[in-house]
Amino acid sequence: MRTKIIAGNWKMNKVAAEAIAFARDLKVKTLNIRKTEIIVCPPFTALAIVHDILKDSRAEVGAQNVHFAASGAYTGEISAEMIESAGCRHVIIGHSERRQYFGETNQLVNQKLIHVLTTSLTPIVCIGETLEQRQSGQTENVIRTQLEESLTGLTTDQLKRVVLAYEPVWAIGTGVTATPEQAEEVHKFIRELIRSRFGQKSSDLIQILYGGSVKPDNIRDLLSRTDIDGGLIGGASLNVASFVEMIKITEDLIN
Ligand code: 13P
Repeated sequence: MRTKIIAGNWKMNKVAAEAIAFARDLKVKTLNIRKTEIIVCPPFTALAIVHDILKDSRAEVGAQNVHFAASGAYTGEISAEMIESAGCRHVIIGHSERRQYFGETNQLVNQKLIHVLTTSLTPIVCIGETLEQRQSGQTENVIRTQLEESLTGLTTDQLKRVVLAYEPVWAIGTGVTATPEQAEEVHKFIRELIRSRFGQKSSDLIQILYGGSVKPDNIRDLLSRTDIDGGLIGGASLNVASFVEMIKITEDLIN
């Protein structure tokens, strides 16, 4: 059976002191969590310190972005090896904000993914349609293309290490959440695409997170759906109380 994941994407929020306070609090408040996988994704500047605080806890640390090369003359960039050495276990690839503001394409996502898979990191690959694409009936085409192009060249064994996140762009930071039915429909479609390319077992095993205005109020309904294996949460993950509340609701759902 697939485990459930609650991942917080802090985006460009929290200086080191704020990150430290959050991590200390999270550690204490999640002592009783036994089943839910917890991931926090701070900005690069706080990865090592947050990992240091959380290393004996259930929570793991992830980065929000990565370069496709191991090292080299890429001023301002951070490699998977550096992220690994900061104690991270995960890395988000192809978030819609990277696509929208920094021109990331499916091809770049694929390059990053292929490199990340040479390290110990678990990639969390994000896909999702814009409002315009949804309204013009393009959702399935967009998702299919994003998935095919992002996963080009991957073997079934490599896919086992990948987590997917469906984040409809129109639901990110807008307060508009996809209904559990809308989310489940796309999650099911993604699982079917994985089945047709990688087989039934891969499709049964792959974890698919939902992201887009997830909060304590709506997480139970979303995560109760068969094909939704967790949340990738922005705004509501910045506050320890609401992040922990969502973790507890998830833990409750598993029991
Ligand atoms: P919000 O939860 O703030 O809508 O952000 C979702 C997201 O982009 C997580 O990666």
